[in-house]
Amino acid sequence: MNPTLRVFKNIDELSAAAAQLFAETAAQAIRERGRFLVALSGGNTPMALYRLLAKEPYHSSIDWSHVHVFWGDERCVPPDDPGNSYGQAKQVLLDHVSIPTDNIHRVASELGPAAASDDYARVLSRFAENGLTFPRFDLVLLGMGEDGHTASLFPNSPVEATTPTLAVTAHYQDRPANRVTLTPMVINAARQIDFLVTGAGKADTLSQVLHGDFNPLLYPAQRIRPTDGQTIWMIDQTAGSKLSS
Ligand code: 6PG
Repeated sequence: MNPTLRVFKNIDELSAAAAQLFAETAAQAIRERGRFLVALSGGNTPMALYRLLAKEPYHSSIDWSHVHVFWGDERCVPPDDPGNSYGQAKQVLLDHVSIPTDNIHRVASELGPAAASDDYARVLSRFAENGLTFPRFDLVLLGMGEDGHTASLFPNSPVEATTPTLAVTAHYQDRPANRVTLTPMVINAARQIDFLVTGAGKADTLSQVLHGDFNPLLYPAQRIRPTDGQTIWMIDQTAGSKLSS
């Protein structure tokens, strides 16, 4: 299925649409399978979405008791460190909705990369289905860096990972370098993948990722191609300013 591109005037309109899509996807998953498995993204872009989900109507309309949150990647700093993606989502969303603590499956980032990656793979295996060692996520939220990375799949990182999780070290902006990431094998098994990308600084890269030559070593976001799912790119006009019509 070809990716869907949705262009919004600004991050507020994008986040409002992403919140509605999150709620609809959750309702369908819970209706059909009794649970909603979602992998959240780190970074700044999804924070407005997370804040919206903590408020009405989503605070009440989403059946949080059947929602299980995971992360597409995590920085290997303690959970209370300002750079921890779980901690960021906890502060603006998870502490404000009635999601059971047992439904929050953070990466044990305090263990260090290798041990945290192994531990997270074990957590994923508890939700495995269809003979796999990991779950088929109903929704994976992803961002994209100005270098074309997504989750913690960075340029020149291992192309064909055969494990569900990887410990990686990567330097991006002023963020923690040691990380754990889901691999494309897991992300691409998802039913739905929503990329949230804003800002003029990503326009050139986004044009390459969406319309340039296939070069996943240089643009890891191009490795995200669900085997039997839908990808929706939700971008603002500035990020989309270099896209050909
Ligand atoms: C992280 C994210 C990472 C992020 C991109 C975009 O841990 O930082 O998983 O992949 O989505 O770097 O980040 P921004 O949304 O802050 O631009």
